[in-house]
Formats: sequence, structure tokens, C-alpha cells
Amino acid sequence: MTTLRSATLVLSILLVFPMVALAAAATEDGCIGCHGDKNISGKSGSHLFIDPGQYKKTSHSIIGCTSCHESVTSNHPNDGIRPSRATCKECHSPVHQEYAASLHANNAACADCHNPHAVKPPAMTSARDMNAMCAKCHETAKMVNVHAKWLPQADLHIDALPCITCHTGSQNYVITMYIEKRLGTKEHSDFKVASFDELTQLVPGDKDVKALIDTNGDNFISLAELRSFNRNSKHDDMRLWGMMTPEKVTHSYQILDNRWDCTFCHASGPRAMQTSFVAFPEKGGTYTRVAVEKGAVLDVLYGTPDFYMMGSTRSTALSIVGGLIVLGGMGFAGVHGTLRFLTRKNRKEH
Ligand code: HEC
Ligand code: HEC
Ligand code: HEC
Ligand code: HEC
Ligand code: HEC
Ligand code: HEC
Ligand code: HEC
Repeated sequence: MTTLRSATLVLSILLVFPMVALAAAATEDGCIGCHGDKNISGKSGSHLFIDPGQYKKTSHSIIGCTSCHESVTSNHPNDGIRPSRATCKECHSPVHQEYAASLHANNAACADCHNPHAVKPPAMTSARDMNAMCAKCHETAKMVNVHAKWLPQADLHIDALPCITCHTGSQNYVITMYIEKRLGTKEHSDFKVASFDELTQLVPGDKDVKALIDTNGDNFISLAELRSFNRNSKHDDMRLWGMMTPEKVTHSYQILDNRWDCTFCHASGPRAMQTSFVAFPEKGGTYTRVAVEKGAVLDVLYGTPDFYMMGSTRSTALSIVGGLIVLGGMGFAGVHGTLRFLTRKNRKEH
């Protein structure tokens, strides 16, 4: 840290003198001046572009480029020195320790999942983007097949859950809804999370995209506002897609036995389904969440027509039917579990 501070000090001293201000290569703005240009290219043809809009929104922009690339000199890039890169564990030792102890530590490094120039807190990251991290190595179609062996509607589950909800010790689940737009014009076309630009076009004047649902602008979404968004025929090509996301993310990657258990999610009762948010896209790829009135997710007919967690309500006939399906699924999972136990030895040998 002392070398870092003295480097910064030296820098600010240099900047006081106009003559050496040419050495601006070593300032943050200087870095972005070159690296924020899409056409930047190096000798190795490596990827050198840093998206300035995205970078500004990251948690790392507060510490600055040179906190991690300390060795950049005033002659960069003509000095032939490849700048150093700080390792994540220098600043994130607790996460590093937790991840190092997990079964995934040898499979992927921090930077395989996180672009250090695009990091953000979990609440500002869409669950789809989290799954995109995994899809770099675990192809989605293949994952659907692997899980379909025991998980009914595996495609729906993988669409409605970040992988980390089942594969890490992450906790405190809530329902986060994303505004999705139909890709084609046909009834059965696929949906994609609507971008900031797409949504901006739909709100009048210079209003915030939140106004699309939070019409009275109180930064809270009432059931009435949710219903009126869903019933508005202007929004026919859109839907609110709910995903069950953890509030507390951990890096303890594992295969958790209780995630075989359907009731872990489905029979958790009304309480777990009480807290929900709508996540609105912002410029630069981040999201901002607005809290939704408690219990909205249970208003399946009008509040959240595209999200229904079986077993989450205890009183309706729908839930009894749902409960039966879940129980059926559990039986299936149980049989599968037994089979796994019996074939354990064979599996080890392969
Ligand atoms: C005058 C334009 C310019 C400025 C200003 C500049 N860079 Fe660079 N940077 C480059 C070029 C060009 C390369 C590629 C050099 C090569 O391939 O030999 C490079 C390479 C790098 C690399 C190595 C990329 C790799 O492949 O390993 C890092 C890291 C880097 N710069 C960080 C910074 C930081 C941090 C700053 C500000 C303190 C900065 N640069 C300022 C032009 C610039
Ligand atoms: C939190 C630490 C951190 C900060 C802050 C940071 N970088 Fe990096 N940077 C890294 C790491 C780590 C890598 C190597 C990534 C990898 O291995 O994929 C890297 C790689 C690069 C590269 C090589 C291209 C690439 O994407 O791999 C360039 C160029 C670069 N950084 C420039 C910058 C500039 C310019 C800034 C400020 C605008 C900056 N970095 C801020 C950690 C950081
Ligand atoms: C020089 C110190 C430093 C290094 C090196 C560093 N980080 Fe960070 N990182 C920070 C700081 C400071 C924050 C702001 C939030 C905080 O206090 O945790 C942060 C935030 C983050 C966040 C977002 C979490 C949040 O709540 O905002 C992620 C993800 C992250 N870092 C990942 C990484 C990864 C991956 C690497 C290695 C490629 C890395 N960091 C290297 C200092 C660092
Ligand atoms: C297999 C993918 C994966 C790997 C490997 C990984 N992370 Fe993460 N990490 C995630 C996901 C997903 C999140 C949640 C979304 C987000 O904030 O980016 C996250 C979140 C974080 C956060 C924010 C936590 C919070 O609650 O604010 C930090 C900090 C972080 N990671 C650092 C690291 C560090 C350091 C490493 C390496 C030791 C690492 N990550 C390795 C997937 C990964
Ligand atoms: C850089 C590549 C990479 C990324 C990114 C990645 N993984 Fe993996 N993962 C692997 C490899 C390699 C294995 C071991 C071989 C296999 O099972 O496919 C593995 C295995 C696993 C396993 C099985 C572990 C076991 O013991 O059978 C789980 C679960 C897993 N990954 C979850 C995730 C999740 C969740 C994410 C995203 C947050 C993710 N992975 C991101 C490479 C990656
Ligand atoms: C509903 C919870 C759940 C979700 C969601 C889920 N998994 Fe799994 N996954 C499991 C369980 C339980 C197993 C153990 C199955 C077994 O051993 O046959 C498993 C097994 C795996 C394996 C090892 C498969 C093998 O080859 O034996 C990988 C890799 C994996 N999951 C990755 C992912 C990724 C990536 C995602 C997100 C796209 C994901 N999982 C989503 C619960 C889940
Ligand atoms: C980690 C949490 C989790 C686990 C474990 C889980 N589910 Fe789900 N399940 C969900 C979510 C989230 C949805 C999506 C609800 C929606 O989008 O309407 C869902 C949807 C379903 C649906 C479709 C309901 C519909 O609206 O069509 C069925 C059927 C289902 N799950 C059965 C099961 C069975 C059987 C198991 C155990 C083998 C299981 N689930 C395990 C979270 C989970």
C-alpha cells in the first residue's frame, strides 16, 4: 500500500508541472483516453478496450486503474513493459479463502467469471448475467439436459434461478423481476431482458425508466401499479420475468443435498415469497431495484401472471394441485437419489 500511495504522490507532484504533464499517460483520464477508444490495438493484438460507460459504474472505478496496474510508467506504452496486474486476493481475502476451499476452485479463476473492469454488487447484476458467467464454460442446453434427469421442467428452472441459488451456500432468497421484451412478432417468440435504451423509448420525455411501472414516482411498486402494467395493452410484447435470487452471495461452490429437495423452494410457504423487486436496467449494464408491495408474487392472476411458484400458497386449489406435482417430483428425485447411492461405486470408477 505504501508503494501505491507514494506512486500516487509522485504522480500528483508531476502533474503540478505543466512541462511534465505530457506524462498524463499515467493518470486515470489518460488511461481511459487511450483504452476507452474502441480502435486501440497493441502489438500482440490483445484485447485492450475498456468500455468507459461500463467501467464508471463499477465498484472498482473508485480505486482507479493504477491501484491494480501499479507498474504503468510515464513512458507507457512505449516502454515495452507489460503492466502488472494485482491479484484479487490482495483486496478480497475473505472471498478468496471461501472460494479456495470450494470444489470449484480448480475449475475457474476469479477473472474467468468476473471482468475486473465490469464488477458490481449482486443487487446491481441481473440474474441472467450471473448465469452468463457460468455459460462461458457450462453450455446452457447441455445443463438443461443434465438437470432434466431429475428436475422436471429443467429449462424453466434454469430460466428462473441463477445457478448459484442451487450451487453455492447463498442465502436469503427473494423474487427479482426483470422486464423482458418479445424478440419476434409471433405469439411464441422468445423473450430477452429489455435494455435501458429500449425502455427509455417507452417513457415520455426525460422520465426515468422506472416510471414505466412506478407511475407515481414514489420509488415503490404497489400491487395496483403492477397490475396496471400487466393489463396495459401497450405492453403486450413485454412480460415481467421472475427469478429467485439470493440477497447474500457466497463462493462456497458445491452440490447441496437439500437442493434435490423440491420443498426447499416449493413448500417454503407464503413467507419466503413475500419479498420481491423489479430490477430496472440502467446505462452501463447495471440494474437498480425497486421494492414491490409485499405478497405481489402470490397475486398470480394479475400481479405476476408469468410467475407462479407451486406450493408457495397454502390455501388455494392451485396449490393443492401444485403440491401433488411437487410430491410426485420428490418421489422421482428420491428414487433417483437411491439409484445414485447404489451406483456410487461404479461412478467413482469412471
Ligand atoms: C497513449 C495511449 C495509452 C495510454 C495513455 C495508456 N495506455 Fe495502456 N496501453 C496502450 C497500448 C497501445 C497498449 C498495448 C501495448 C503493447 O501491446 O505493447 C497498452 C497496454 C496496456 C496494458 C497491458 C495489456 C495486456 O495485454 O497485458 C495495461 C494493463 C494497460 N495498458 C493499462 C494502462 C493504464 C492503467 C493506463 C493509465 C495509467 C494506461 N494503460 C494508459 C496505450 C495506452
Ligand atoms: C481491481 C483491479 C483493476 C482495476 C481497478 C483495473 N484493472 Fe485492468 N486488469 C485487471 C486484471 C486482474 C486484469 C487481467 C484480466 C484477466 O486476466 O483476464 C486486467 C487487464 C487489463 C487490460 C488487458 C486487457 C484485458 O481486459 O485483459 C487492460 C488494457 C487494462 N486492464 C486496463 C485498465 C485500465 C485502463 C483501468 C482503469 C480504467 C483498469 N485496467 C483498472 C485489474 C484491474
Ligand atoms: C486494489 C484492491 C482491489 C483489487 C486488487 C480487487 N478489488 Fe474488487 N473491489 C475493491 C473495492 C475497494 C471494491 C468496492 C466494494 C468493497 O468495498 O468491497 C471492490 C468490489 C468488487 C466487486 C463488487 C462487489 C461490491 O459489493 O461492489 C467484485 C465482484 C470484485 N471487487 C471482484 C474483484 C475481482 C474478481 C478481482 C480480481 C480480478 C478484484 N476484485 C480485485 C478492491 C479491489
Ligand atoms: C464461478 C464463477 C465465479 C468465480 C470463479 C468467482 N466469482 Fe465472485 N461472484 C460470482 C457471482 C455470480 C457473483 C454475484 C454477482 C456479482 O456481484 O457479480 C459474485 C460476486 C462477487 C463479489 C460481490 C459479493 C457481494 O456480496 O458484494 C465479490 C467481491 C466477488 N464475487 C469476488 C470474487 C473473487 C475475489 C473471486 C476469486 C477468489 C471470485 N469472486 C470468483 C461468481 C464467481
Ligand atoms: C472457466 C470455466 C468455468 C466457469 C466460468 C464455471 N465453471 Fe463450473 N466447472 C468448470 C469445470 C472445468 C468443472 C469440472 C468439470 C465439469 O463438471 O464440467 C466445473 C464443475 C462445476 C460443477 C460440478 C462440480 C462437481 O463436483 O461435479 C458445478 C456445480 C459448477 N461447475 C457450477 C458452476 C457455476 C454455478 C458457475 C457460474 C457461477 C460455473 N460453474 C462457472 C468450469 C467452469
Ligand atoms: C434447482 C437447483 C439447481 C439449479 C437451478 C442448477 N443446478 Fe446444477 N445441479 C443441481 C443438483 C442437485 C446437482 C447434482 C445432480 C447429480 O449429481 O446428478 C447438479 C449438478 C450439476 C453439475 C454436475 C453435473 C454432472 O455432470 O454430473 C453441474 C456442472 C451443474 N449442476 C451446473 C449447473 C449450472 C451451470 C447451472 C445453471 C445453468 C445449474 N447447475 C443449475 C441443482 C441445480
Ligand atoms: C432452488 C429452488 C427450487 C427447487 C430446489 C425446485 N424448484 Fe421448481 N421451481 C422453482 C422456480 C423459481 C420455478 C419457476 C416459477 C415460475 O417461473 O413460474 C419453479 C417451477 C416449477 C414447476 C413449474 C410450475 C409452473 O408454473 O409450470 C414445477 C412443475 C416444479 N418447479 C417442480 C419442481 C420439482 C418436482 C422439484 C424437485 C425435484 C423442484 N421443482 C425443485 C424453484 C425451485
